[in-house]
Amino acid sequence: MQQLTLIGPLSQVIPMTGIPLKGAVSDSQLQIIENAGILFADGLIKTVDSFKKLETDVQDQDVKLIRLEGKHICLPGFVDSHTHICFGGSRARDYAMRNAGKTYLEIAEEGGGIWDTVQQTRKATKNELIKGIIKRAKQHLKNGVTTIEVKSGYGLSVKEELKMLQAIKEADDQFPLDFVSTCLAAHMLPRDFKGNLSEYLSEISAQLFPILKKEKLANRVDAFIEKGAFDQSEIAPYLSEAAKMGFEITIHADQFSVGGSEVAVKFNAVSADHLEASTSHEIELLAKSDVIATALPGASLGLGCNFTPARKILDAGGALAIASDHNPGSAPMGDLLTQAAILGTMQKLTNAEVLAGITFRAAAALKLSDRGKLKAGYLADFNLFHTDNFNEVLYNQGAFKPCMVFKKGKLIYDKHNP
Ligand code: NIG
Ligand code: FE
Repeated sequence: MQQLTLIGPLSQVIPMTGIPLKGAVSDSQLQIIENAGILFADGLIKTVDSFKKLETDVQDQDVKLIRLEGKHICLPGFVDSHTHICFGGSRARDYAMRNAGKTYLEIAEEGGGIWDTVQQTRKATKNELIKGIIKRAKQHLKNGVTTIEVKSGYGLSVKEELKMLQAIKEADDQFPLDFVSTCLAAHMLPRDFKGNLSEYLSEISAQLFPILKKEKLANRVDAFIEKGAFDQSEIAPYLSEAAKMGFEITIHADQFSVGGSEVAVKFNAVSADHLEASTSHEIELLAKSDVIATALPGASLGLGCNFTPARKILDAGGALAIASDHNPGSAPMGDLLTQAAILGTMQKLTNAEVLAGITFRAAAALKLSDRGKLKAGYLADFNLFHTDNFNEVLYNQGAFKPCMVFKKGKLIYDKHNP
């Protein structure tokens, strides 16, 4: 058994409890526990309460005390529910071309874009991919991310998708963050595939899906519904097969044109991500469903386009998660805290809504109900920031990082001792 540990005193703990999964949230709904302590053991939270009370309660027990000096606030470990941090090479050229006037889809049509990264990722060895994933995961850890989703989608053949998903699994074994992997073989039709779209998707579902199940490489399947990728009818048999085999479904939806949200709702997906192009029809549809709507402000910032209509989604009653979409093409920044804060400013989201979007609402987008809140029985994943007011975190728009990050009760990042 891991040592019973008490950490504190904390000027404020924001447990993110008592807030519904769906809909708008006012800042007054945020519970704030002042002069608090957190008691944990075996990687799980036992109690969050007044530090003085907890100190008295445990005085006769064998307890390790982490006594903090100075001001600290505590938030749950952040969950980044959508990334593509497994890739080879760089697309700095695409970025320059976009800023010089070409669009993302034009660059893709000319052989750049996703296909460019596919070629560079295929050239990389599995070990090189693992190194790249860990390098980027370290950057996410410094932002307080303790759970990160990672997609394949730059292999686009049975063999190369497997290489990516194995690299993600090995990175998970080597690095203390929790990685959740997703198969994105339906990112686009690979240009070297000898056959049509439906033949490609059939090959993937027949040959790759059973291996993913057997080797426990992924239990989630993603598809990019967009011009130049897949449309609603092309993707339907593939998603039906994935659902039949028990994969959870998530969709790259409504990024440049609509259609993806309808697919997500029809297939009861766990999440529909992007939504920059969603209209009131898609917003209503998502809000009425159990699909988590995920905003990816990093893609808006990387492409210089509209933000996801997050305010409208919340006001319609939808569940909003916020993720980084960290990838070499549309979202090279990979700084969730900065992006979530900026989305809050641009879309007039309350701090409570932004924090919910990167904690328990993002966890729900990964079907994880054991994290994203600080309460008994939940994982002891939490971030400390050097301040006595949690509003400083988003106010600094990402420039203010956690000083300590705990994962399952272990200190895995200490800013003063990196
Ligand atoms: O989420 N939109 C599709 N896929 C990724 C981008 C992939 C890339 O450009 O390499 C995204 O934006
Ligand atoms: Fe993406």
